[in-house]
Amino acid sequence: MANKKQAVIIDGRKVAAELKEAIKKEVSKMIDNDDDTPHLAAVLVGNDPASETYVASKEKAAHTVGMVSSTYRYPADITENELLEVVDYLNSDEEIDGYIVQLPLPKHIDENKIIHRINPAKDVDGFTPENVGKMVLGQPAFLSATPYGIMELLKYYNIPVAGKHCVVLGRSNIVGRPMSILLSQKKDAANATVTLCHSATENLEEITRSADILIAAIGKPQFVKADMVKDGAVVIDVGIHRLKDASKKSGYRLVGDVDFNEVVKKASFISPVPGGVGPMTIAMLLKNTLLAHKKEIYP
Ligand code: GUN
Repeated sequence: MANKKQAVIIDGRKVAAELKEAIKKEVSKMIDNDDDTPHLAAVLVGNDPASETYVASKEKAAHTVGMVSSTYRYPADITENELLEVVDYLNSDEEIDGYIVQLPLPKHIDENKIIHRINPAKDVDGFTPENVGKMVLGQPAFLSATPYGIMELLKYYNIPVAGKHCVVLGRSNIVGRPMSILLSQKKDAANATVTLCHSATENLEEITRSADILIAAIGKPQFVKADMVKDGAVVIDVGIHRLKDASKKSGYRLVGDVDFNEVVKKASFISPVPGGVGPMTIAMLLKNTLLAHKKEIYP
């Protein structure tokens, strides 16, 4: 029997590196011209290890492309009003082009209240109602970095999207919901037929098996098995989980929402964890910061 064609492993690190290189060149030119340097800020509340890691990666990536980056750290018992004051300060500081408030926030703080207070022109996460609304309407907006990064990956690998059946697993505000909207937009490299699946979806496996492009953002380690995937499907894995692994020096290994070793045998393209979607999320955040600095979304 002829060997089945191997899946292409989507190299998010490589695509992100190219994007960051282009951003770095643009930032260098600004510095050479004595223009202001783009500045990304992050707010980190408490000491959730995953959030610490994410914010540290964002800060490092900003430095790599020559941007200014600053992290505002607060203890987990900061009050909601105090955090609103921080947001007001960041909105008013003209040196800061864009900022993110790392989620999740402690339970006593209403996340919506905080997000709604962010100036949409500095909302490089694309989480404010204004940016989400504009995105839904297909108008220029800051796009949530993970779905934006996935759209860029599909484009980079020339994966046909128009007319295809895209199945998105998970309806979070950060990934699943915006992903479903971007894929269905009447635009180049979009125009898909989209099904958004969630915890109440019936016949889930039947739906996933009909996907030409399957995007797993469900938050369950190795949830997507080979028998849930159509032969030749494109599989994008948004999940990131630590699984205990005594054979690793760290004591754990990273896995996604997809059982990679099984699904790689069936897919035509598959994004790995780590090294797939994650690096793109950070690259798109930097891209949004550059757009904020140049006032290209909010002139
Ligand atoms: N928590 C998990 N992902 C994200 C993200 O993309 N942005 C923010 N602000 N918090 C997150």
